[in-house]
Amino acid sequence: MGFEALMPAEGMAGIAERIEERVTLHQLWRAQNREAALEAIAPRIRAIVATWHTAKIDAALMQRLPNLEIVVSFGVGYDHIDAAWAGAHGVVVTHTPGVLDEDVADIAMALTLAAVRRLPQAERYLREGRWRNAPFPLTASLRGRTMGVLGLGRIGKQIAKRAEAFGLDVVYHGRKAQDEAPYLYYPSLLGMARACDILMIAAPGGPETRHLVDREVMAALGPDGVVVNIARGSLVDEAALIEALRDGTILAAGLDVYENEPSVPPALLELDNVVALPHVGSASRHTRQTMADLVVANLFSWIDGKGPLTPTPETPWR
Ligand code: 8YV
Repeated sequence: MGFEALMPAEGMAGIAERIEERVTLHQLWRAQNREAALEAIAPRIRAIVATWHTAKIDAALMQRLPNLEIVVSFGVGYDHIDAAWAGAHGVVVTHTPGVLDEDVADIAMALTLAAVRRLPQAERYLREGRWRNAPFPLTASLRGRTMGVLGLGRIGKQIAKRAEAFGLDVVYHGRKAQDEAPYLYYPSLLGMARACDILMIAAPGGPETRHLVDREVMAALGPDGVVVNIARGSLVDEAALIEALRDGTILAAGLDVYENEPSVPPALLELDNVVALPHVGSASRHTRQTMADLVVANLFSWIDGKGPLTPTPETPWR
C-alpha cells in the first residue's frame, strides 16, 4: 500500500494533490463519520499533514496512531501541535520557518501604519462621501515613537529592520538577550511597555506566552499606546484589550490574529480604533506556495530516508 498519511483538516488548494503523487493520503475532513474512518486507518498512518493552525494535533490524536513517525505542518507557529508530546514519543514535527518572515513583517508594518494613521477609517470616510464636507480629522503619527518588539525571532527581526527604516526606535523583550541584536533588551515585558508606545507582538503562542499582554502591560503603554499582533491571539488578554481600547487606556490596535479564530468578538469590531485583518500575514500567493513546497519537501525527504528538513526544536532528530 506504500506510505500512508492523514490530513485531518482541509489544506491549501493543491497541496493534497502534490502529496498524493507519492503517498496514500486520507483526508479525514471529507469522511462522513470521522471516528469510524480514523479507527479503520489508524495503524497504517505514518505521517500527519497538519494544515491550518486552527486544527489541533493533540496527544489524544497522535496516541491513536501507533505507527506515527512524523507530523509535517504548514506554518511557522505550531502551538496547535503537541510538539513536546511528539518529541517525547519519538515523533518528528516539522514546520515552515524562514519562508514567511518578510511577508508577515510587511503586514506588521502595514497594521502599524493603518492603526496609527487610521487608514481604513480614512478610506471609509472617502467612500462614504464625507470628504466633500470636511477633511478627514488629523491623526496620531509614527514620529518620535519607540517600537517594543515582543519576540525578536526571525519575524521580529524583519519587523525591527522595517521599523528602523520608518525612523522608529526599536527595543525588544524575549526570554533572553541576544548579543548580536543591535537593540536595547528589556528583561521584563512590563519594563519594555513603560519604555515604548508601539507594542509589536511577534512571539510564539502556546501556554507559556498565554495572556502575556494583559491589562497592566496595556496601561504601561499608555494613552498613546498601540498594540499590533501578528503572532497568535492567545498572547493577548482579548477582553482586557477591548476594555483598554474602549476606555482610552491605549490609543489603537492593529490585529491579524485573535484568541478564537475565525471568530472575532463583536465588541472588538464595534470599536473605531481597531484595524482588524483576517489572519493574512503570510497569505500572499508567493509565500503560501513556498510554505506548501516546504511541507511537501519535508514529507518526501522523510520518506526518502533523508530526515526532516525543518524540524521543530522539540523534535528528537540529530
Ligand atoms: C498561517 C501562521 O496562516 O505560519 C503561521 O504560524 O500563522 C500563518 O502563516 C497558518 O498558521 C497556517 O497554518
